[in-house]
Amino acid sequence: MPLLEVKNLRVWYPIRGGILGRRIGWVKAVDDVTFSIEAGQTLGLVGESGSGKSTTGKAILGLAHISAGQILFEGNDITDSARRNRSPYRKSVQMVFQDVYSSLNPRKRVLDIIAEPLRNFEKLTKAEEKKRVDELLSIVGLTSDAAVKYPFEFSGGQRQRIGVARAIALKPRLIIADEPVSALDLSVQAQVLNYLKDIQKELGLAYLFISHDLGVVRHMCEHLAIMHNSRFVEFGTREDIYSSPTHIYTRRLIAAIPDIDPLKRDENNRRRIEVAKEYTDRREDYYLDSTGVYDLKKISATHMVALP
Ligand SMILES: Nc1ncnc2c1ncn2[C@@H]1O[C@H](COP(=O)(O)OP(=O)(O)O)[C@@H](O)[C@H]1O
Ligand SMILES: [Mg+2]
Repeated sequence: MPLLEVKNLRVWYPIRGGILGRRIGWVKAVDDVTFSIEAGQTLGLVGESGSGKSTTGKAILGLAHISAGQILFEGNDITDSARRNRSPYRKSVQMVFQDVYSSLNPRKRVLDIIAEPLRNFEKLTKAEEKKRVDELLSIVGLTSDAAVKYPFEFSGGQRQRIGVARAIALKPRLIIADEPVSALDLSVQAQVLNYLKDIQKELGLAYLFISHDLGVVRHMCEHLAIMHNSRFVEFGTREDIYSSPTHIYTRRLIAAIPDIDPLKRDENNRRRIEVAKEYTDRREDYYLDSTGVYDLKKISATHMVALP
């Protein structure tokens, strides 16, 4: 049984207009999205800004209104927010944010930031709490003296570690990581990705790893979902997506990965221009009415693409 199953998820926001504030249309932030995540595995959710990635994550956490569809966690239906709040689900699924500057309360010491979820869910003595916080700090590679400091005393990469320590405090099964390294310098990104992988192994965590950059998630994800215009345009294993990207949108994201090897720069520039040309000239081969995304179709046992 998968850890998390999302079936035909829809998050639509009403657009209101006129003096009566009547509904005149919908913003379809997420439209008919289906996927599952196995325990201990990572699903990458990749697409440009505005494609519906964060809303998908928020719907799973109960932070966005679900218009239609179903969410199951360990086989239990938690679509309904009342049921979600009563179940162990609230401890089992946590979030790590992109914005390491505003997601930590600047007036609280690190000890209080990390201990907050523990105080909400577990009755620990002060000594037990301090011990747990020290353990959590050491898991994310910080020393125990960090506990008495404030967030501003740390670098961006260290703050992200504090955010992760807080997210894993209740021993969750799933972490929704929404662009967790996008605000960090390139050199720090690799470090953060590495320790996220280490923690994953140590704690048996599953990740929904959200990113706009296919280069960043390459070594993190067993499976990838490529999202555009609130729908999945392609879904597959790492091998499927990086070795045989099929939808023009996926190929465009692959072509946008920055070059590390200077010898390949000319070749890649040429490919980038070709893909950009196909994206504008042959849109009707890939999109319904030029923007609508087709339903996914299986092209192999593991690989699905939204094609006519
Ligand atoms: N609360 C909201 N009300 C109305 N529209 C929203 C709301 N939240 C997100 N949207 C819209 O839904 C779309 C998807 O947003 P989002 O999930 O944040 O995309 P991403 O994370 O991929 O950048 C965007 O067009 C955004 O403007
Ligand atoms: Mg987002």
